[in-house]
Amino acid sequence: GKGNYRHFMEKELHEHPAVLGDTLRQYLDPKTLEVRLPRLPFDPARVPRLTISACGSAFLAGAVGRYWIEELARLPVDADVASEFRYRDPPLAEGGAAILVSQSGETADTMAALRLLKAGGQKVLSVVNVPESSMARESDGAVLTVAGPEIGVASTKAFTAQLAVMACLAIGFGRARRELSTLDEGRLTQALLEVPSQAAQILEQDAQIRDLAAEVAKARDVLFLGRGSLYPIALEGALKLKEISYIHAEGYAAGEMKHGPIALIDSAVPVIALCPTGPLFEKTASNLQEAAARGGRIMAFTDADGVAPLSRFAEHVIELPKVGAFSTPILYAIPVQLLAYHVAVLKGTDVDQPRNLAKSVTVE
Ligand code: F6R
Repeated sequence: GKGNYRHFMEKELHEHPAVLGDTLRQYLDPKTLEVRLPRLPFDPARVPRLTISACGSAFLAGAVGRYWIEELARLPVDADVASEFRYRDPPLAEGGAAILVSQSGETADTMAALRLLKAGGQKVLSVVNVPESSMARESDGAVLTVAGPEIGVASTKAFTAQLAVMACLAIGFGRARRELSTLDEGRLTQALLEVPSQAAQILEQDAQIRDLAAEVAKARDVLFLGRGSLYPIALEGALKLKEISYIHAEGYAAGEMKHGPIALIDSAVPVIALCPTGPLFEKTASNLQEAAARGGRIMAFTDADGVAPLSRFAEHVIELPKVGAFSTPILYAIPVQLLAYHVAVLKGTDVDQPRNLAKSVTVE
């Protein structure tokens, strides 16, 4: 049941810390600070190229995985939504491997991608939440997310669990390919082990996010901006908002603003920015300042060090815990999902059963 929560989605949002802890505990050793992956169907040190494919939010988890795997393991990754991948007839690398991501393990397009990849000689690993699903059975190997049943149609806890698994895979691949030292592995593992409590801290900011939602609920169009591994999280914010509140939203790479979308900016369009401090902060902040100069209403998520600089031009600044760049996609996913939830509640939509959508898309 829903317990004391109004919706399954709200209950599942509040399960983020527990689910992240349960999933990370499977693949991280807190004593040695090492990643412990199950037996993989391929040797990441020998694979020339990796394909990542999935649908919807699961694809966005894979898209974050692409940033991590390329950065930490220096392994080239091709990431594409399964509905495109399956008809694109892509040339597949000899000895190549693939990762598919799915909560249900039954999504028709992702299953078609699986069969195409296997027919093309690729070794396929699936990241799935349902151990007895078709995808888990037909793949060469599976790594489970430990999210428990997800009832709300919009994916929440399964998404962050997918990110947690992708993070562990990226560290494991980095070590296998000798791109990460023991020290790096320990540092990244330690950062992941802190994520569940940081997720709990973020959930305590529910009231602030609800205030932001009251502003966003009045809009007809909303832009989400992020850079690097937060770009897919901007897309996730836009997807969730569209899906459950029916407000039109787009996610953009912050640097793409000046190539078109900035034309949309006026005082009616909230611009929600994922903007932690770090190497990309100045660039993103300057993209935001340009939008603000055109009358855009900037609503930013940042950390303690970002509050003062962003407050000079942003209408709302929400402070999240200061974490290393590696963990930010997992943590910043939570407030964008919470925001979509509160906007939908304010709009009075059917949060758990949005119109026209099914939990498991088993037809093309
Ligand atoms: C969005 C959402 C969908 C699913 C997509 C894939 O909130 O839930 O985009 O992520 O339909 O589903 P699975 O993960 O079951 O393959």
